[in-house]
Amino acid sequence: MTTTYDAAPAAREGVSGGALTPAEVERIRADFPLLRRTVREQRPLVYLDSGATSQKPTVVLDAERRFYEQHNAAVHRGAHQLAEEATDEFEHARERVARFVGAGVGEVVFTKNATEAINLVAYAFSNAGFDGALEGADPEVAARLRIGPGDEIVVTEMEHHANLVPWQELARRTGATLRWIAITDDGELDLSDLEEIVNERTKVLAFAHVSNVLGTINPVRTLVARAKAVGALTVLDACQSVPHLPVDVRDLDVDFLAFSGHKMFGPLGIGVLWGRPELLAAMPPFITGGSMIETVRMEGTTYAAPPQRFEAGTPVVAQAVALAVACDYLDAIGMERVRAHDAELLRVLLAGLAERPWVRVLGPLEAEQRSGAVAFEVDGVHPHDVGQVLDDAGVAVRTGHHCAWPLHRRMRVTSSSRASVAAYNTPEEIQVFLQALDRVPEVFGTAKGA
Ligand SMILES: Cc1ncc(COP(=O)(O)O)c(C=O)c1O
Repeated sequence: MTTTYDAAPAAREGVSGGALTPAEVERIRADFPLLRRTVREQRPLVYLDSGATSQKPTVVLDAERRFYEQHNAAVHRGAHQLAEEATDEFEHARERVARFVGAGVGEVVFTKNATEAINLVAYAFSNAGFDGALEGADPEVAARLRIGPGDEIVVTEMEHHANLVPWQELARRTGATLRWIAITDDGELDLSDLEEIVNERTKVLAFAHVSNVLGTINPVRTLVARAKAVGALTVLDACQSVPHLPVDVRDLDVDFLAFSGHKMFGPLGIGVLWGRPELLAAMPPFITGGSMIETVRMEGTTYAAPPQRFEAGTPVVAQAVALAVACDYLDAIGMERVRAHDAELLRVLLAGLAERPWVRVLGPLEAEQRSGAVAFEVDGVHPHDVGQVLDDAGVAVRTGHHCAWPLHRRMRVTSSSRASVAAYNTPEEIQVFLQALDRVPEVFGTAKGA
């Protein structure tokens, strides 16, 4: 027996076409219990930190609870009815999440988060270097997975540490060289020397679809075309795009795609790796142990086919079930409409910040070139102090380097404040944020317009 999930309440009432109306956003907000709470002396919460983690609608919370109350058992084993039901729920969730990004069902691996998904790929490359690791693999695919001295791995200067450090480590372990595509002053990728940086020695090109700091939407097609021209594999960090834009793996034509459930109305504790089936089939495992084996003898072990080969141990079942419901929820609103609403909020936000000459926005100034997040600095005030003044007004933003230290260095700042939006945010909340921001120069005695 598999649970059939209720679509988003807002969608049942006929959300369709174009940007979301105020009434539709109100209905969506009503689905998120946490948005009803107050903070700091009974102020209404203005949650502008969805780039770090989004809030969760009741249907997602209920799905996780229902799994534990009705079906909880270890999957893929157990000779009893509950084990069968739990397995059905888990595999049904895999099919649903795969469909959300246009993927086939056996091509999706569940991980703990996007960081683990990216590490899984980086370690597969690393482990491919061991004797016998690619036994039985298609020789052409095996050659693409083997990395060593003389090979190059390319990232960009705007990566979240999750899509930088694993590649630094891979380079260190294999003797390959790490290179990167620089950022322009405007916060876009500098593609002027793309042909030199991504060249015949490049084995992997790993980059973010959308920057978690600059909000920049990167030119996936251009980068993938160049990688293909030189035979390099592409790894797309889609953490900040899957929650905000329609994403289809076939359309993007990348080789791997990673994202986290908790940024897209799903639960904490689950990430997703999609990979081309022929690559997953050849890849050695990352973590080994139970559930990922075919046969085990004292002398050695053979591994299960993907996706089980990459899901060692007891998997994230309840989280997968709830993530599937988050996919239902987003699809019921419509990702085109999520994108349109996001762009409208960013237009209001960017226009408001542009009216304040003591604020500098990092990254592109046009909402159409961005998604989700806007990082900024306030003249003469540390981002942590900015965050504190906003927090006093009930406005939650993130401050710091947002796990993108090299990016901040390149933009000549040590840290920044970041406001990030989701389908439940309103233009009125952006105004509350802007009014609270006006308190910053007052509190710290820095001149407005300085
Ligand atoms: C662009 C990007 N990549 C990777 C990650 C890492 O995600 P997680 O911490 O869920 O693994 C994040 C999280 O902020 C992100 O924004």
